[in-house]
Amino acid sequence: MNAKQAAGYKAAEWVRDGMTVGLGTGSTAYYAIEKIGEMVGKGLKIRAIATSNASEELAVKYGIPLVASSEVTRLDIAIDGADEVDPQMALIKGGGGALLREKLVAINSDRFIVIADSGKMVSQLGGFKLPIEIVPFCYEWTLGRLQERYKVEIEMRQRDGQLYVTDNGNYIADASFGKIVSPGELSHELKMTTGVVDHGLFVDIADTVIVGYDDGRTEVIG
Ligand code: A5P
Repeated sequence: MNAKQAAGYKAAEWVRDGMTVGLGTGSTAYYAIEKIGEMVGKGLKIRAIATSNASEELAVKYGIPLVASSEVTRLDIAIDGADEVDPQMALIKGGGGALLREKLVAINSDRFIVIADSGKMVSQLGGFKLPIEIVPFCYEWTLGRLQERYKVEIEMRQRDGQLYVTDNGNYIADASFGKIVSPGELSHELKMTTGVVDHGLFVDIADTVIVGYDDGRTEVIG
């Protein structure tokens, strides 16, 4: 068992009969979905909402029943990975590009459980490039405004030589802050920037962090 698998499998222990569950995105969330699928196979009765097309496909593959957002007001629990986790449980997410749906699901859950291998734990956020989702219309202007404001390297995410397009039809700009001194302030400021849809800073959203280690151990924080 590797660290991501240990964390993902451990998080599945919080899932109970009758719950509505938010399914995260990425290589750690994959293991949580796999385990939950196994539990559904053994009779667990839940409904789920996925945070990306990729996770939705996984849920279908593992026989996890999906529910439309119109049929749900709040989720009982959401389980998702992270790119960085600081001691206050503030996160950088969005390395996989699903940050907007992930944040929507996380803030609408009674308990948001973050699953991460120990390499994701940092003393200060910012080593990982902060993903910022921006609208395609006049995106060069939004990019320019962000570069002008923060004076750090910010590059448009690409895939196969084309601009990367999120599941919501937007682009992602990745910002190399290095160290983020005040994640809360930066989070608010970015949200106020016209052209920015959302960003990968998750501040005061995580309730629990499950850290996985290479020897298969897990540590539960919160
Ligand atoms: C997806 O957009 C991300 O927020 C992921 O949750 C994050 O990048 C962690 O991914 P891994 O679990 O693959 O490291």
